[in-house]
Amino acid sequence: MSDTIYKASTTAPVNIAVVKYWGKRDAKLNLPTNSSLSVTLSQADLRTLTTATCSASYQGQPDSLTLNGEPSDITGARTQACLRELRARRATLESANPLLPKLSSLPLKIVSENNFPTAAGLASSAAGFAALVRAIADLYELPADPTELSLIARQGSGSACRSLFGGYVAWRGGEQTDGLDSKAVQVAPASHWPTMRALVLVVSAAKKGVSSTSGMQQTVHTSDLFKGRIANVVPKHMDTIEAAIQNKDFATFAEVTMKESNSFHACCADTYPPIYYMNDVSRAAVRAVEAINAAAGKTVAAYTFDAGPNAVVYYLEENSASVVGTFYGLLPATDGWKDGAKVHASAAVPLDEATSSLIKGGVSRIIQTGVGEGPIKTDQHLA
Ligand code: DP6
Repeated sequence: MSDTIYKASTTAPVNIAVVKYWGKRDAKLNLPTNSSLSVTLSQADLRTLTTATCSASYQGQPDSLTLNGEPSDITGARTQACLRELRARRATLESANPLLPKLSSLPLKIVSENNFPTAAGLASSAAGFAALVRAIADLYELPADPTELSLIARQGSGSACRSLFGGYVAWRGGEQTDGLDSKAVQVAPASHWPTMRALVLVVSAAKKGVSSTSGMQQTVHTSDLFKGRIANVVPKHMDTIEAAIQNKDFATFAEVTMKESNSFHACCADTYPPIYYMNDVSRAAVRAVEAINAAAGKTVAAYTFDAGPNAVVYYLEENSASVVGTFYGLLPATDGWKDGAKVHASAAVPLDEATSSLIKGGVSRIIQTGVGEGPIKTDQHLA
């Protein structure tokens, strides 16, 4: 038997939702209660690199995944669903063309690494599953349409389906019970509105909170507020923010982003028992953004929070001075500032003492980044 090692590598980005996915209508197929929309962040700052290999010489070994140098469990139902779907698509190609090597029956070795600290508590599952699906799809030479692959990545982790595209990405929740209409589409490429910036304030959490997977189902089952959110709030926010992105209307984009984050965290607080992801430092970041907007006399910054205390602040390049300046002024010694952040310090907006000291004491790292591209095939192999 040939001991050829077939190999493909890809990088995939992190995305941060501005209209949040929170709730499943089918936990097995990982179908959401609502559509969602995200901004793909630049891979220069945040990305997963994944190499997928398969070979007859691995025969007798189980499929394996090494993540950041450590063996990782892939027996979970979600990873298994992704591998099963990818193999089935490869098997279809192989039966149509008998000349193709029978890769679908060979064991897989997957090696994956993030370029950001895992301790940062940033949702790495989106980039991780997007990279895994893209790398194996490339290895199997499957048709490259990211929307088709989003149907597979969604089953690994819902938010992962949006990391198959760059720019501004919607996950259309769909209505079908088989989930075939629950997939990601690009609303606009990064180049449409390239001046979008994101400042991530990494906030240390005392203890790990409730996982998104379990938290969202507790909300679905116990929150009355959530029913109104999916019936009325999200559909309106999706329409408004898609138009705002098309029109490059930052004030509207920002208003929806902040109201969405507030609506999502209000539903978490309305969950019984309640779930609190934001902490005092997160709320101080909200006040800082409000002060920056008040000082500008218009909306130049928007906060959003996922299932943890980290703040993500979206702003446009042209407003870097007050946004970067304010946070740099509070956190000049914190890791992660890019060259040039310092020049904005003089534009810092003054904040009250309580807000300043919470931010100074609670932010452990900064990530200064922007909107970026989807998965990129690479010859930089990890194995
Ligand atoms: C708050 O995609 O992590 O980040 O599908 O169970 O893996 P699973 O959930 P996951 O949830 C993300 C929730 C969120 C909002 C969002 O990214 O839209």
